[in-house]
Amino acid sequence: MERRERGWNARPGAGDDPGEHLARRLRTVQQRVREALDVARPGRIRTVGVCPGQGRELLGALAAHPRRGDVVARLVEADAAKVRSARGAARAAGLGRVEVLEGDPSRTDVYAGAVPAALVLVGGVFERIGDSDIARTISLLPQLCAPGAQVIWTCHGEPPERAGGVCARFEKHGFQKRWLSSPGETAYAVGVHRFTGTPAPLESGVRMFTFGGGSRRVAREW
Ligand SMILES: C[S@@+](CC[C@H](N)C(=O)[O-])C[C@H]1O[C@@H](n2cnc3c(N)ncnc32)[C@H](O)[C@@H]1O
Repeated sequence: MERRERGWNARPGAGDDPGEHLARRLRTVQQRVREALDVARPGRIRTVGVCPGQGRELLGALAAHPRRGDVVARLVEADAAKVRSARGAARAAGLGRVEVLEGDPSRTDVYAGAVPAALVLVGGVFERIGDSDIARTISLLPQLCAPGAQVIWTCHGEPPERAGGVCARFEKHGFQKRWLSSPGETAYAVGVHRFTGTPAPLESGVRMFTFGGGSRRVAREW
């Protein structure tokens, strides 16, 4: 905690309220989602969300986007209350092609029929798992990705220099960095990586990560 407080004090913009970090991060992710949709190929845009919570990252971005009707999404969330909330929000927004599945997002099985996807959202996961599970998850993402897919990821509550390790993992597995949040943002990292490798067939029964496997501190649950 001491190290983190020093960091917050030392870097501009990083000492604000944790609720503000989350709101800022959400706006950043939504903007990255809109940009991914802007450059998506014509036709259906298959999307998957790993641990979407209440689905705000995608649903907020789709609200007024011209491609909203092309998005065919599966969001996989473990928490039943969040699933209900996300389903309600999708329904209220008229997004009938956004499916919210209650299940274990860490298992490959839950994505069967929804991949390969052009857009993969992995928000709020990396700070909750150990380095070996981050590496494992990224190594398995080619099973979820179509050629040219964009992966938007976040890592909350970590020094920005850790983002370099995440980027290195992506590069090792055929992803090119398209965008990374500023190192001046010390509350979280957001990254966008484009898949330039060869998609892998979805293997059933594989666990990508286990929550709680890391020592990371999380600002708060949301
Ligand atoms: C921090 S939230 C991320 C929400 C959203 N993607 C975001 O970044 O704002 C992590 C989500 O993982 C879900 N979750 C909690 N424990 C889990 C577990 N053991 N395995 C998989 N998902 C879990 C939580 O319900 C929560 O919605």
